[in-house]
Amino acid sequence: MQQTLEDRFGRRFAYLRLSITDVCNFRCEYCLPDGYQGTPTGFLHQAEIERLIAAFAELGIRKLRITGGEPLVRKDAMDIIAMAGATPGIEQLALTTNAFNLAGKAEALRTGGLTAVNVSLDSLREEGFRRITGDRRHTRVLSGIDEAIAAGIPSVKINTVLLGGLNDHEIPDFMEYVRERPVAVRFIELMRTADNGDYFQQRHVSGATVARQLVDAGWQPKERGLTDGPAFEYTHPDYRGRIGLITPYAPNFCDGCNRLRVTARGGLRLCLFGNGTHDLRPLLQSDADRPELKRSICEALFQKSASHFLHQGDYGDTPHLASTGG
Ligand code: 5AD
Ligand code: SF4
Repeated sequence: MQQTLEDRFGRRFAYLRLSITDVCNFRCEYCLPDGYQGTPTGFLHQAEIERLIAAFAELGIRKLRITGGEPLVRKDAMDIIAMAGATPGIEQLALTTNAFNLAGKAEALRTGGLTAVNVSLDSLREEGFRRITGDRRHTRVLSGIDEAIAAGIPSVKINTVLLGGLNDHEIPDFMEYVRERPVAVRFIELMRTADNGDYFQQRHVSGATVARQLVDAGWQPKERGLTDGPAFEYTHPDYRGRIGLITPYAPNFCDGCNRLRVTARGGLRLCLFGNGTHDLRPLLQSDADRPELKRSICEALFQKSASHFLHQGDYGDTPHLASTGG
């Protein structure tokens, strides 16, 4: 039987987001305001990760994103990335990072096969950065981004969670930032998770405020390609970079869902805001289990729902995005 990653709604999945650790060294106010509180052990070992990626690649996954927590806190992160880059079938290899430890690694990441890096950066100002992340290494993060560009990593993007009163006044600064830099800055609407209810009430602002400012400043919406992610991007002839918007509360946001997630402990998660995971770990212990592993993944996928239920106030059991890698 031909096994493909397809759900009941005909959505095809060629994109896997794999968390390699829950641990994060930042304390972003909307994510881990008290810092990492979990048990920093028991994450998938390299051999398990290798089996997992190989099985997904055989099932048609072509794009793999390594996430966390913060993936670069893992000592063997560079080995995992190089291994993933060498896996047959993986055509695009991306990393989501807070970039505290990107400076000095960009060249090695590119030679290890990394094709894209997404840096989480919520403020271009030192004080704003410290306030939101609890970390002082703002300059190091900015250097890491510039190194990634200089090293020739083909796609460099910045994710900025839009926070009312904290960074929504920085939109003109972000425009200036991309004037000479070939990067895409994507503003993400703050999402409600199980842990951040009060914060969400206080800080959530609609992406429409960004869209309005972009249009007023002469930015034009870009045509969307078939394999594009969830961002709506804008371009401007006077700027090298792009600015985008990710609006998870917009109608039909889920129709184009093309991604699956696996947690750092080997749980397959069908939706960022779903409930529960499907444990793949028992099938990652031996190469001989590969056929069973693939069957198990395809079966689980059949249970994926059409959409998240955020609008009905059901945000699933995700405590914060550090637990699933965003
Ligand atoms: N809402 C929106 N974005 C979030 N991120 C983490 N938590 C949230 C949230 N509640 C972002 C991070 C990072 C990406 C992986 O997800 O800032 O850019
Ligand atoms: Fe860490 Fe990212 Fe969560 Fe910030 S948003 S605490 S960088 S996992």
